[in-house]
Amino acid sequence: MPTTLLQADLPGLNLRHRGKVRDVFEIPRGRLPADAQPGAASNGDYLLIVATDRLSAFDVVLPDPIPGKGEMLCQISNFWFDRTAHLMPNHLTGIEVASVLPEGVDPALYARRAVVAKRLKPVPVEAIARGYLIGSGWKDYQRTGKVSGIVLPDGLQQAQQLPEPIFTPSTKAAVGEHDQNIDFDAMVRSVGGELAERVRDATLRLYAFAAEYAAARGILLADTKFEFGTDADGRLYIMDEMLTPDSSRYWPADQYRVGSSPPSYDKQIVRDYLETLDWDKTAPGPVLPAEVIERTRARYAEVLHKLAGITID
Ligand SMILES: Nc1ncnc2c1ncn2[C@@H]1O[C@H](COP(=O)(O)OP(=O)(O)OP(=O)(O)O)[C@@H](O)[C@H]1O
Ligand SMILES: [Mg+2]
Repeated sequence: MPTTLLQADLPGLNLRHRGKVRDVFEIPRGRLPADAQPGAASNGDYLLIVATDRLSAFDVVLPDPIPGKGEMLCQISNFWFDRTAHLMPNHLTGIEVASVLPEGVDPALYARRAVVAKRLKPVPVEAIARGYLIGSGWKDYQRTGKVSGIVLPDGLQQAQQLPEPIFTPSTKAAVGEHDQNIDFDAMVRSVGGELAERVRDATLRLYAFAAEYAAARGILLADTKFEFGTDADGRLYIMDEMLTPDSSRYWPADQYRVGSSPPSYDKQIVRDYLETLDWDKTAPGPVLPAEVIERTRARYAEVLHKLAGITID
């Protein structure tokens, strides 16, 4: 049975950030295994990142957990970090989660939903690759003929595959705000030309690899969002989560039709349910019927199984 965890409380570890889904703790230097300890490590150089079962929709965290979702997200990310390690360094350290937990904490609750990661300096943009025209990209295209400043051919339809995948960065919005697409020049002004190009190249390379891998398993990767960070030497890594249904639009290939929005393996079930309510999409979010929770859980499990061959329950 998967464990359920709405919020991680780890006495002795300093809570650095409670995100919408992840709780991030600093690992004190003394807790790191001696052989994993590079000479100069100081407190907070390594993070314990715990994927909880919280679910956000329309950028609001809902009151109900999706049991096992954090484990599934963590397992999908770990799968992709491993599969893409030849293309891009990632934030994982390989240090065992159980070895850094405070005494008295049940490792079973954390082992499969947490990772020990190198703390990096986040590149302050969301790095998005799109292979298909959907979501905010489709909206922008209808209005302007462009996505993130990239001019696209006339006459494209909703969900149509693009002539080639494009890089469409967006701002990282503060709590309660929505991300906004920006053009490449705006990203260059924000992070510098050299870093912007490295992030763009890595994003498109990772997307191409993952899209081909997924397609061979009957799944289309319509688009995905990566987060990158740099270390003290300026080396670029991929961090946070990777190619999960929360950060990506995965479509079952056999249900794909140009001209309409295909069902996806993400939170569509929850969004569809929420659209039936008279809710203004601000916190607090509504509770979910058990049946919506179960169908959502099953969708996450299905994509984990189809992509990574992992069965969680
Ligand atoms: N290796 C890392 N080094 C530093 N920060 C990291 C690393 N990996 C992930 N993070 C950060 O940890 C947080 C993970 O939390 P979560 O994904 O729940 O956040 P979120 O709700 O998307 O919040 P945010 O608004 O901060 O993006 C993110 O802010 C992410 O940028
Ligand atoms: Mg996040």
